[in-house]
Amino acid sequence: MSNSVVFKNKIKRFSNTIRVSGDKSISIRWILFSSLAEGVSEAQNLLMSQDVMAALNAVKTLGIKIKLNERSCKIYGRGINGFKYKKNLVIDAKNSGTLGRLILGFLVNTTSPIKLIGDKSLSKRDFKRISDPLSKFGVNFKLKNKKNLPLTINGSSDLTPIKYFENRGSAQCKSAVIFAASRTKGTTSIKAKKSRNHTELLCKYLNLPVTVQNKKNYDLIRVKKVKKIRNFNYKIPSDISSSAFFIVLASLSQGSNLTIKDVNINPSRVGIITILKKMGIKIYLKNQKYYKGEKKADIKVKGPKKIRSINCPLKLNSKPIDEFLVIFLVAAKAEGISYFKNLDELNQKESPRLIWGAKILRKMGIKTITTKNSIKIFGNPNLKIKKKIEIKNYLKDHRVFMTSVIAALSFGGKWKIHDKDSIKTSFPSFLDIIKKINK
Ligand code: S3P
Repeated sequence: MSNSVVFKNKIKRFSNTIRVSGDKSISIRWILFSSLAEGVSEAQNLLMSQDVMAALNAVKTLGIKIKLNERSCKIYGRGINGFKYKKNLVIDAKNSGTLGRLILGFLVNTTSPIKLIGDKSLSKRDFKRISDPLSKFGVNFKLKNKKNLPLTINGSSDLTPIKYFENRGSAQCKSAVIFAASRTKGTTSIKAKKSRNHTELLCKYLNLPVTVQNKKNYDLIRVKKVKKIRNFNYKIPSDISSSAFFIVLASLSQGSNLTIKDVNINPSRVGIITILKKMGIKIYLKNQKYYKGEKKADIKVKGPKKIRSINCPLKLNSKPIDEFLVIFLVAAKAEGISYFKNLDELNQKESPRLIWGAKILRKMGIKTITTKNSIKIFGNPNLKIKKKIEIKNYLKDHRVFMTSVIAALSFGGKWKIHDKDSIKTSFPSFLDIIKKINK
């Protein structure tokens, strides 16, 4: 079967209500926390994707029983010191940076070396950003080229607390250090640039000894040793990063109306909404509710007549970090020049996404000026693509694939987009929802 998709026509104006799959960050965190909890935890609406399956497999290899069916997932936690595994254990994080990085924080006091591997894309990514702070606790690492996978982690039963400054705005680095600190005697202090805070909210919900002081530009987090995690159930809300593709599809289709049900709108994740509203898109949050410290709502979007360009404020860089690629498409249709800067982290993702964003836009006939960490996008409100465009060799980055599909449906042209299997990592039902809307 072909692993590419072809799109030849723009989408017609639409009016739809959809539901996207469960949040990836929360799904992976629920799995990791409940594997160390005492007793059975159950999740509903867990994201059924390759990244999340890799997380379930990882805790399985650590001796944790799992029961999974279409509607729910049960994890039989064995307590904080309950991991049991054979010598020479290998954990495969596949494509998942979140799993690969977070799980290292859970393995800091294991008793024999564990090898961590990943796929081609993950093996190109930086793991020194995790091994450096965890080494300070007293954990030993061996990494390929001193920074990549495969790596071997050699835990210690005598960990010392650290002072850590997380200055990239990376929730993965911050979370790995919080987990490591929770296995360490004494108090670890973390000064962290703002980033998604699902880990801290779960710690609070579970009454773990983790305190957070929110300052203007960073958070001060103090972590003490965790003695016990209680089992807990979770109904995972829908993922705003998956919703983003459809928010943009509606934004680029004048007069269209879209509602996305029950989406996580944690303030540290809603950068896409802030940015698109500044660009003149009508977005409303209905039925707002709190759930276990997280916030959720139905998102309503209306495709406007005119889109404004944006000089994206630096303080917004971390919140929509997974959404920039698709936000660039909105800038392509805006009146004027949009500017996104200090986006070094964007090239650290499943593929170098700043480079890929610029490549897609150039193929569409949009002028861009890029540096190693910034992009200026010269919007064209009348853009209509007529030519053939082919997207391939992008390290199977799921978000490059989905962004290309949204571009094809929004601007026309004849698109061939390879590696559709890439969506399995984060959003397997993406093309089914596209079909439902694009009748
Ligand atoms: C994630 C954090 C972000 C994000 C990733 C998920 C998480 O990565 O890009 O998709 O769940 O903690 P960084 O922490 O590297 O910015």
